[in-house]
Amino acid sequence: MNSLPERPRRLRQSPAMRRLVAETRVDPAQLVLPLFVNEDLTEKRAIGSMPGVFQHTLDSLRSAATEAAAAGVGGVMLFGIPTVRDAVGSQADAPEGILQRATRALQAEVGDALVVQTDLCLDEFTDHGHCGVLTEDGAVDNDATLERYVSMALAQAEAGSTLLGLSGMMDGQVGAIRAALDRAGHIDTALLAYSAKYASAFYGPFREAVDSQLQGDRRTYQLDPGNRREGMRETLLDLAEGADIVMVKPAMSYLDVLADVAAMSTVPVWAYQVSGEYAMIEAAAAHGWIDRRRAIEESVIGIRRAGADAVLTYWATELATWLRA
Ligand code: PBG
Repeated sequence: MNSLPERPRRLRQSPAMRRLVAETRVDPAQLVLPLFVNEDLTEKRAIGSMPGVFQHTLDSLRSAATEAAAAGVGGVMLFGIPTVRDAVGSQADAPEGILQRATRALQAEVGDALVVQTDLCLDEFTDHGHCGVLTEDGAVDNDATLERYVSMALAQAEAGSTLLGLSGMMDGQVGAIRAALDRAGHIDTALLAYSAKYASAFYGPFREAVDSQLQGDRRTYQLDPGNRREGMRETLLDLAEGADIVMVKPAMSYLDVLADVAAMSTVPVWAYQVSGEYAMIEAAAAHGWIDRRRAIEESVIGIRRAGADAVLTYWATELATWLRA
């Protein structure tokens, strides 16, 4: 036998040893399930490009959230699809808007078991599909959009959302919303800032999931995929403006950005494994080209290893169930 100075394989010799020395784990409480609720539906509707994911009715939404809570999932992130869309996204801040109704329903149903969160962005509510309101020449108007976001934030806080997901990528959104919430007495409503959110092709299936009307792209407000430093700049700004949690999105193509943010953030860091990441693994698995369960587990472990404290993933309930078995 050779006398090697080190034999790293010693620590890999059995499942028990590997479990003992595992550096990264996933706990169900670190998973957040995104959920879609469509005001128009009387029965839940499958999303073709996201097999296993649905647009829900209020009733089926309640069941999905209950199932997530039973599996130990840490939170749900709600997206609303309204019947009526217009230029300013009027339904986004309507007290009886679908997102507000869904929030009240889920807080009553599962609010003690997990954290009910809401997407704060206009794109599901505008007829042009942009994340903000437009100027006369069709550009996204940053400061006019902030006024809409503030009004949405108040409506969501009134409806009882615990954590607002600021996904619109307007300059100054975290500070404007924090100040308005505090003025209205909502000091405990927390803010999840989508800080480093890139203009990504991997949002493709999500556009189907919310029946998006978008023509064109979001490159004047979301980050250029090649810009690593800019992800840090956006994160620093959001921290200074009062973000309670910061997020990197998408996850798998941006693990370097995630590691950067995790190294400097003073607040929890989350990552969003987006619709296209989900669709790619589901599609490959459906062809028998990869082992579905192993690929899902490895993808989320990788995101955790890079620095995410929690992960938004459409597999949250299923993965939590596996973890508990
Ligand atoms: C914006 C928003 C988007 C996603 C989450 N929030 C779409 C976009 O920015 O174009 C995408 C999530 C996913 O792809 O899973 N409200």
